[in-house]
Amino acid sequence: MSGKREQWNSRLGFILATVGSAVGLGNVWRFPTVVVQSGGGAFVLLFLLIVIIVGVPLIIAELSLGRASRKNVVTTFSVLAPRTKWWLIGVFSLITVFIILSFYSVIAGWAVIYFLGSVLGIFTGLDSIGLTAINQQLISSPTVPVFGQGLFILLTVVIVLVGVTGGIERISKIVMPSIVMILLVLLIRTLTLDGAIEGVIWFFRPNLALINFNTALDALGQVFFSFSLGMGAILTYGSYLSDEEDIPKSALIIGVSDVGIAILMGLIVIPAMFVFNIEPGIGPAVVFVTLPAIFNTLPASIFWSSLFFVMLAFAALTSAVSLLEVTAAYIVDQIGWSRKKAAITMGLAVFAFGLPATLSQGVLAHFTILNFSILDFMDFITSSIFLPVGGLLIVIFLGWVWGTQKAVSEIKKGSPRFALAKIWSFLIRYIMPVVILYIFISGIIG
Ligand code: PFF
Repeated sequence: MSGKREQWNSRLGFILATVGSAVGLGNVWRFPTVVVQSGGGAFVLLFLLIVIIVGVPLIIAELSLGRASRKNVVTTFSVLAPRTKWWLIGVFSLITVFIILSFYSVIAGWAVIYFLGSVLGIFTGLDSIGLTAINQQLISSPTVPVFGQGLFILLTVVIVLVGVTGGIERISKIVMPSIVMILLVLLIRTLTLDGAIEGVIWFFRPNLALINFNTALDALGQVFFSFSLGMGAILTYGSYLSDEEDIPKSALIIGVSDVGIAILMGLIVIPAMFVFNIEPGIGPAVVFVTLPAIFNTLPASIFWSSLFFVMLAFAALTSAVSLLEVTAAYIVDQIGWSRKKAAITMGLAVFAFGLPATLSQGVLAHFTILNFSILDFMDFITSSIFLPVGGLLIVIFLGWVWGTQKAVSEIKKGSPRFALAKIWSFLIRYIMPVVILYIFISGIIG
């Protein structure tokens, strides 16, 4: 705990790392999956509204909490509100982070496998039926996905070992621009395929009949998940932020980039599903079937497909690193372990905890009557329950315990004007708690 806390090397490094945390499987894999399951345009509309009312303001909140305390997710609350029990929010966050990282590495492991499979050319020339079959075969194998998951966790641990400012900044600088470039190529390709326009319309046209409290809760969960909010990841990154940094501007850049990539993905995957007749019922595998189908229409499909999946694995890596960092920062600060011991122990624990999720896609499915997916369950309880609850607690803490005035002075250190201070404070104190609570309760009951 002694010594000066690490800080980001540059403004760009911080922005890229935080965007790196936000942009990942949540945008590329989860967003299209939830859009397909929740009825297209109506969901997209709700998602965008929640981004504005809850998402971006909460990024500002978490960054200011982290920077004000310069501590990990648990100690932040005990430093800002001494002699209270609010630090329990931090403990809750650690549990959430642990579960998310466990199932996140399973899907990221699929990306690793798809990268290797692309290099070997096993998807080349297959149509959507062949691609669906091979997807099933791969993810239900008792060994292949475990290998992908293990390799991915190993990489995550190595980067966290190198340290925040060394490892994370450097990798985000390469990954983010590359992923945008590949997505633009994919977008142009998809939109020029026959029949793509129907998918574009489905994606944007809100069918209001499909808006209900379940959709709203899905949208809320998606915003939290995609923005890395409600469990201290953005807060922890804020704790390495220098006082000169403009928090509201950073929050806007993070929000716009994250939403931009999600929308890009939606505009690639959904039209492609129409073009290739891919069933909406396909669930979490949708991206892994649809994208190779698009690649197969491109010249040099092996090249594009390998490049995309390796970049996806890296995008997932920059997110997973921020998750592992939340737990590592806590253990290093509080228990006094070395960074190495903390990262390796957590890596092993996450691997073990994620194994049932990996195996529930195949081996374990044969033993359960309902074919219950542990993976889907872990995703559901974290995104739809733990994150909204965590976010609500953070907002209440900031608005009513620590106080928006203190937060505003923290923010003004690097953003002296902070023109929207009043509106932001009002949102934090009154609007956000009500909106989150309302959507959460009605979503759970409904
Ligand atoms: N935001 C990441 C994504 O969209 O893939 C996932 C994530 C990272 C969630 C970090 C939570 C977190 F703390």
